[in-house]
Amino acid sequence: MKIGLLGLGVVGGGVYEIARGLQDVEIKKVLEARFTADYITQDIDEIVNDPEIELVVEVLGGLHPTYEYARKALEAGKHLVSSNKLLVSAYGPELTALARQKGLAFLYSAACGGSIPYLENLSMARRVDQIVALGGILNGTTNFILDAMGSRGMNYDDALAEAQALGYAERDPSSDVDGLDAQQKLILTSAVGFDVYFKPEDIPTRGIAGVLPVDIDYAGKSGRALKLCVRAERAPDGTVSAYVEPTLVGENTLEAMIRANLNCIWYEGENSGVMRYMGQGAGKLPTATNVLRDIRGVAAGRRYMTGVACAPAVPGKASARHGYYLRVKAGVPVPEGWAAKQRAAVGDWALYETAPVAVEAMHAFAAGDPAVFFAGIQAE
Ligand code: HSE
Repeated sequence: MKIGLLGLGVVGGGVYEIARGLQDVEIKKVLEARFTADYITQDIDEIVNDPEIELVVEVLGGLHPTYEYARKALEAGKHLVSSNKLLVSAYGPELTALARQKGLAFLYSAACGGSIPYLENLSMARRVDQIVALGGILNGTTNFILDAMGSRGMNYDDALAEAQALGYAERDPSSDVDGLDAQQKLILTSAVGFDVYFKPEDIPTRGIAGVLPVDIDYAGKSGRALKLCVRAERAPDGTVSAYVEPTLVGENTLEAMIRANLNCIWYEGENSGVMRYMGQGAGKLPTATNVLRDIRGVAAGRRYMTGVACAPAVPGKASARHGYYLRVKAGVPVPEGWAAKQRAAVGDWALYETAPVAVEAMHAFAAGDPAVFFAGIQAE
């Protein structure tokens, strides 16, 4: 199969390198502004108008002109494979609809979980099973920071700088530490697992900015580990709720054992039970393997990751609840209905554990206040 590759950055370089060793995948042209070679062009039309190219791989990142290029490729009759979580979380429904209309493929396994074949398996699982819930650790940068603070006693700024130096963080690392990267991946997993598209504003999202050693210490002393987790679950009325938040997980869970920048993702099927996947959630060659699996998937007849019934999520109907760890300045009142029990006073801080609280209520309580830190307590 002849391929047009959009982008020769980290992931694009990995795709190019692996594809060179494969006999049935030929990268015929590459769109790239920084280098010159006979196979490199700066003109998208040279790729979409090439009748020999059957499939376009988009690994440019960003939204524009990437979205316009993706549409052009589909309109010109090329299958599309993307690793771009931003593009798919923003334009997934539209691009999938266009691909369906044209009888073409649109696959994006590498947009979530780097090398982990999670979305592909989830998309197959949901055809034969009802997905009850899904979640896990989908951001390597924050996992690296929390792990470095917990196991190496590093401070937040140094740990973030190390994650940046190792190439794990996004260009703007606030996307990682504020939970937006994980939120984009949760939009994709929810679409694939539940056939619902969330808008970012419908997913309560809190990252790890503001985490202090006192929080990491509390996690360790209470037999838990602190992780940034995503979760989506189906309520009894059929609606789905989704959220991103720091989470205290039991020290014997698989999540607690996920070190450095690794990811760990799971889904629970009504018939299959819980299925867990772990591996490299980012990086040149790991992420490229998922792109190559999609290319092979298209050749084998795979077409879409979401169902025809995939529709916008109905916000506000389903609301998950669970207990929380909460750190506030000493003297700041905690809502009475939360039955919060103070567990410790450390310096100027009061540390609580609450009875079950609606996720939206806790996120609203902490919104805009960097002095408040909370973490959902994961049931074991
Ligand atoms: N910045 C992302 C992460 C890269 O840390 O997980 C992979 O999507």
